[in-house]
Amino acid sequence: MAGHFITFEGGEGAGKSTQIARLKAFLESQGQTVIVTREPGGSPGAEKIRAMLLSGGAKDLGPSGEAMLFAAARADHVDKTIKPALDRGDWVLCDRYADSTRVYQGEAGVDPDYLDLLETAAVAGIRPELTLLIDVPVEIGLGRVAVRSKTDDSGGPDRFEGEALAVHERRRQLFLSLARKEAYRFSVIDGAGTLDQVTEDILKAVQRAFPEELGSQSNLAEASEGNS
Ligand code: TYD
Repeated sequence: MAGHFITFEGGEGAGKSTQIARLKAFLESQGQTVIVTREPGGSPGAEKIRAMLLSGGAKDLGPSGEAMLFAAARADHVDKTIKPALDRGDWVLCDRYADSTRVYQGEAGVDPDYLDLLETAAVAGIRPELTLLIDVPVEIGLGRVAVRSKTDDSGGPDRFEGEALAVHERRRQLFLSLARKEAYRFSVIDGAGTLDQVTEDILKAVQRAFPEELGSQSNLAEASEGNS
């Protein structure tokens, strides 16, 4: 793989999109070429599947059918967007990836072995070198989502946001246990602090993961100051 692959994970309202934009700006300031993408979606075919999944249009298929659709979207996204970018030598920052299926569809009761099979087929060997798990207490995350739903035109919570508190809490714990099990690639970021604190922690984690590709600690400090 010529480029670098970083995924962002976390529950609802973790602040992933803002932090992804900030990391992109930092990497570009270091002379790197960056693409930002997301799941479900990230390629024309996968965006069509996204619309179906997030509207609840695929709910009748049940959690394992939905898992298959997430996997189908992922396979197309890897093939059309992620792999070509990595082959060009770009950095790929992806908002959610296979860990979201393990957590969301796993929590919904889909057999982990079945999810494993789908994952192996969908990712075709393309796995993140670094996964930033932005962890926030469920109440804080959902509070942010509630504000967002009132202030944008998203039309309220989507199929996966509008679940009971206990469901969100189980997802949070599943993400954290995945991070412990695959600690070699995960970095858990405390997402409850200010935007600037979170950015600083992310830049440090990225610097630690890619010491050769990125500049010195002083560049990093300047970049996070520039963000405030
Ligand atoms: P999105 O609006 O992108 O949410 P967020 O801003 O929280 O990332 O919607 C993605 C939703 O789909 C989110 O609730 C998580 C869910 N999801 C799954 O259930 N399984 C998956 O494999 C992925 C990628 C997402």
